[in-house]
Amino acid sequence: MKKVYITRQIPEVGIKMLIDKGYEVDINKEDRPLTKDELMQELKKKDYDAVLTLLTDIIDADVINAVPSVKIFANYAIGYNNLDIKIAKEKGIYMSNTPSGGAERVAEHTWALILALTCRIVEGDLYLRNGKYKGWDPMLLHGERIEGMTLGIIGTGRIGANVARKGKFGFGMNVVYYDVKRNEELEKEDAAKFYSTVEEVLKISDIVSIHVPLMESTHHLINSDRLKIMKPSAILINTSRGPVIDENALVSALKNGIIKGAGLDVFEFEPDLAKGLIELSKIVITPHIASATEEARLEMSTVSAQNIIDCLEGIAPRNNVVL
Ligand code: GLV
Repeated sequence: MKKVYITRQIPEVGIKMLIDKGYEVDINKEDRPLTKDELMQELKKKDYDAVLTLLTDIIDADVINAVPSVKIFANYAIGYNNLDIKIAKEKGIYMSNTPSGGAERVAEHTWALILALTCRIVEGDLYLRNGKYKGWDPMLLHGERIEGMTLGIIGTGRIGANVARKGKFGFGMNVVYYDVKRNEELEKEDAAKFYSTVEEVLKISDIVSIHVPLMESTHHLINSDRLKIMKPSAILINTSRGPVIDENALVSALKNGIIKGAGLDVFEFEPDLAKGLIELSKIVITPHIASATEEARLEMSTVSAQNIIDCLEGIAPRNNVVL
């Protein structure tokens, strides 16, 4: 009987798909991610054929070498920076992600952060809750109109392209982008104009939104030097992965008026926040929930299970990322 380990409870639908295939399925019973040591111990208990992992699990050489029976680590996430693809390639095993799970919702959440900042939603809410509202005031909480502003997108995959289209066609913005690869579709639709460097996009944008995967080349893509290129009136949005931004440099830039604000759903030291971040009033923060809808989580459950089924039934998983 083929054996599958799931590193944390996920929606039942994917678990049922695996059980219906006749696989033996074990699930971490703790309501928290396992540490690397705990995970290795669990995986060593049986000769598992497949592991369904979450983005909080670090699947590196130690883990991969500890369980040579495993043929696939199927990530329940769009991002897969927690998986060591290089080692997987060397070992000839599969790794997969769930690219369709919540991408459109992440784009919507990006917009929620942009609007929360420019319309001062969180500040207004707190103002009311704290009993400060004494009636309409012409000087109260001025925000910004985003129509006509320039939106800069760094990374125009499925999520970044969606954010760009919403900016151009939904809000009447001038949209510019940088990517290592040009997005011909976006350009054909006249949705966004390509610039060949990150710097050019940072320099001219009123709002910058990051949509790159985390890898060596994108770690601290936004650092103190690049923050200095941005307009002092600009806001920075990140719904990708925390370490793409040097968070300490961001705190310092916000404190010193280098940029105006930031909307963040992801953090460099998750679940911790960089020192000083929480005290800033110029930010809107959410706890890595950009893709959190029931629909997306169900999709992630079925897609990650299907990747395992593909592999264990002898075909390449449809969302294999080891290329
Ligand atoms: C969430 O961050 C994901 O990568 O799915």
